[in-house]
Amino acid sequence: MPGAIYAEGLVKTFGDVRALDGVDLDVPEGTVLGLLGPNGAGKTTTVRCLTTLLRPDSGRAVVAGLDVARQPDAVRRSIGLSGQFAAVDEYLTGRENLQMVGRLYQMGAKQAKARAVELLEQFHLADAADRPAKTYSGGMRRRLDLAAALVVSPPVMFMDEPTTGLDPRNRQQLWEVIKQLVSGGTTLLLTTQYLEEADHLAHDIAVVDHGRVIAQGTSDQLKARTGGERVEVVVHERDHIPTAGEVLRGFGKGETTVEEHTRKLTVPVTGGAKLLAEVIRELDSRGIEIDDIALRRPTLDDVFLSLTGHTAEEKTEDTGEADRKDTRKDSRKETVK
Ligand SMILES: Nc1ncnc2c1ncn2[C@@H]1O[C@H](COP(=O)(O)OP(=O)(O)OP(=O)(O)O)[C@@H](O)[C@H]1O
Ligand SMILES: [Mg+2]
Repeated sequence: MPGAIYAEGLVKTFGDVRALDGVDLDVPEGTVLGLLGPNGAGKTTTVRCLTTLLRPDSGRAVVAGLDVARQPDAVRRSIGLSGQFAAVDEYLTGRENLQMVGRLYQMGAKQAKARAVELLEQFHLADAADRPAKTYSGGMRRRLDLAAALVVSPPVMFMDEPTTGLDPRNRQQLWEVIKQLVSGGTTLLLTTQYLEEADHLAHDIAVVDHGRVIAQGTSDQLKARTGGERVEVVVHERDHIPTAGEVLRGFGKGETTVEEHTRKLTVPVTGGAKLLAEVIRELDSRGIEIDDIALRRPTLDDVFLSLTGHTAEEKTEDTGEADRKDTRKDSRKETVK
């Protein structure tokens, strides 16, 4: 049985740009899928296809058990969406924005009011509740938009880069809100460019690049694909780099990389802490003084690099600035095409 969010072979082209090139996804109920990829990878386009805002050229999607192409209205009633660009009414206050959403979802006036108060507290907007949203900072708008997506608790939620533009404290707080939401049984698809965020929140991570899912698994599974842990050594003297490199090659399970200017050498290993002690002894016996040594697990950055040849934060070449501006401008008033 397909999960709460299911997509098969989604293709979407914009002129010459193949934004989606056959996206497959399957998100079990009550779990979080992190869609991770660089600018222009196709994250927002995927979210728009799954939330009925955009019709794919081909492929099929089922959300909350409903066919997205055939039952778009029913899908809309079963989902919550927080888009990449905050969609709040500038002229209404924070409180009014939230109450309006409640009323749109058929809440009674009293209930909508009470829910607005709860969310304003939860998102630290109580002090600004009665100011028009146009006076809010970027991070405050972002928070208001997320609060609006949570007025009712739909079974399936989509969040497109929920924490972009938030400061570290607000990001942490939002992570807590998201965790609470999921522990209540909500299925969530979130997109992010932050490896740490996917690591922290997502049960499963789908790495997207050029409109395709190029790898999927838990954070641990993805990391395991890059081949275990790394030993990192910083030698005290630059002249010792060649000898230290020789030592590390003796222990390594892959290529040793050297960063000359920081005097740092890195090598993939298997064998854990015991091996680390052996490396230290060997370096010591060769008279190499070290400033730092550590055993670290591969990061998702290592994963992305090994899968795509570029890091997640690097821009891919096909995101024309003109296109992007248009996308931003149009993203809010979209109807099904
Ligand atoms: N309405 C549109 N018209 C033309 N091209 C578009 C449109 N929407 C998206 N694209 C193109 O499709 C590709 C995928 O865009 P998308 O917005 O899905 O990327 P993304 O992964 O969300 O990127 P970002 O991290 O920058 O938000 C890009 O090359 C983009 O320029
Ligand atoms: Mg996007």
